Amino acid sequence: MSKYESLIAAARSAREHAHAPFSNFRVGAAVRAKSGRIFSGCNVENSTYGLTLCAERVAIFKAISEGERGFDAVAVVTDTDTLTPPCGACRQILWEFCGDVEIVLVNPRGKTETHRLKDLFPKPFDVSYL
Ligand code: THU
Repeated sequence: MSKYESLIAAARSAREHAHAPFSNFRVGAAVRAKSGRIFSGCNVENSTYGLTLCAERVAIFKAISEGERGFDAVAVVTDTDTLTPPCGACRQILWEFCGDVEIVLVNPRGKTETHRLKDLFPKPFDVSYL
């Protein structure tokens, strides 16, 4: 069993709940807290477009609002051959709460890539600049 199996399963099942009537681009994400708890999210679009929330931010905000701190992995599932990395806004938010975490990108056919957030987001602004 891969160390990410349950994280990926949670992201895949969250993707089933994606509200993506405008883009039809359905995304599921899940974050794993150091406590072992997993929090998942899907993208939630809005008719204004700009108020759309990505799956990654839904997942991490759910975890934060449940009192979790400290995360060691994030999974993102999309049905694309070229796997989907978190957008710039999500990279910033993930950096804030997860630091240099493992990001696991997956599609339903089992294609998988793992990246460190630092490689996707090499010079982040964070509290160290304040
Ligand atoms: N989206 C995500 O949920 N996560 C990503 O990593 C990339 C983009 C969503 C936002 C929008 O609902 C749709 O995908 C198309 O951009």
